[in-house]
Amino acid sequence: MNKSITTARACGKIILFGEHAVVYNQPAIAVPLQAIAAMVEVLPTKAGSGLRISVPQTQREFRFLEAHEGSENGLIVTARLVLKKLQAPEPDISLVLHSTIPQKSGFGSGAAVSIAIARALSSYLGQPLDDAIVNDIVYEVEKMHHGTPSGIDNTVIAFEKPLYFVKTRPNEFIHINGKFHFLVATLPHSTPTKVTVSDVRYLYEKHPRRVQRIFRRVGELTNEARLALETGNISSLGPLMNENHKLLKRLTVSDSMTDKMCRAAVRAGALGAKLSGGGRGGNMIALVTDETRGPVADALMKHGAVRVIHTSLEATKKTTQ
Ligand code: PMV
Repeated sequence: MNKSITTARACGKIILFGEHAVVYNQPAIAVPLQAIAAMVEVLPTKAGSGLRISVPQTQREFRFLEAHEGSENGLIVTARLVLKKLQAPEPDISLVLHSTIPQKSGFGSGAAVSIAIARALSSYLGQPLDDAIVNDIVYEVEKMHHGTPSGIDNTVIAFEKPLYFVKTRPNEFIHINGKFHFLVATLPHSTPTKVTVSDVRYLYEKHPRRVQRIFRRVGELTNEARLALETGNISSLGPLMNENHKLLKRLTVSDSMTDKMCRAAVRAGALGAKLSGGGRGGNMIALVTDETRGPVADALMKHGAVRVIHTSLEATKKTTQ
């Protein structure tokens, strides 16, 4: 067994279209966000010390032995599932986790740290797991955190490709044409995805026909967006984002700050803007051009963004910063 020192990385993600409706079997589009990432380094430790996961940023350390089956710590559960899959005994190592992905902000932090752990541990054991297996393992951990997640976060991060995702259908990856520039703004507040998903569930149970119509329209927008991305039709993508945002508002998952930031982005020259992810804070995304990138970033900062990340999508398999 090859036990050299190993490192692994997993990027963040951003949802472009279809959040919430995706939980009800409509399509969604998500893309990797390479500007932020989780990294894990494997350090062998002395014999008998067991497996530990340490997070220097939060000065926390989790020990495998102290956790028990069904343990609530997602990192330890990930390690346990990897060892089970590989039928490997607990190694004597320390998995050191560093991450630049803000937590609870809709960037897939939970999925990314688990994916980095799964990749680092399996590589250290000399049996690197392929992306599909890592994806399945991390989906189990996501369920522990989020109840009934669609699985979009773990999938786009595991495969690191623009993804057209429908729950229960095989994954489809999008081949981008042209070049699309986005600004992703982090808001100073966030709401747990579990909360907004359960509020949408409540609304759906109360007004099934009305909410189902919204979900179907979101699905149509997502399909149109896929076509725009695949044909390099930048000008048609912006209005689709604006309409998706309006529908998310009707699902009650936006809030006044997010709405203001979307309006400010469009006023400053963005071709379109919408919330992204679970909503009521977290992050929002705007489609810009080379010319409008600067003014839109300034407007977003002026309206309270904590950070603005530029990302672009082009005819390669990955996003670039
Ligand atoms: O908050 P995020 O970025 O993890 O996105 C949640 C997306 C939802 O569609 C609201 C929920 C889901 O599981 O897909």
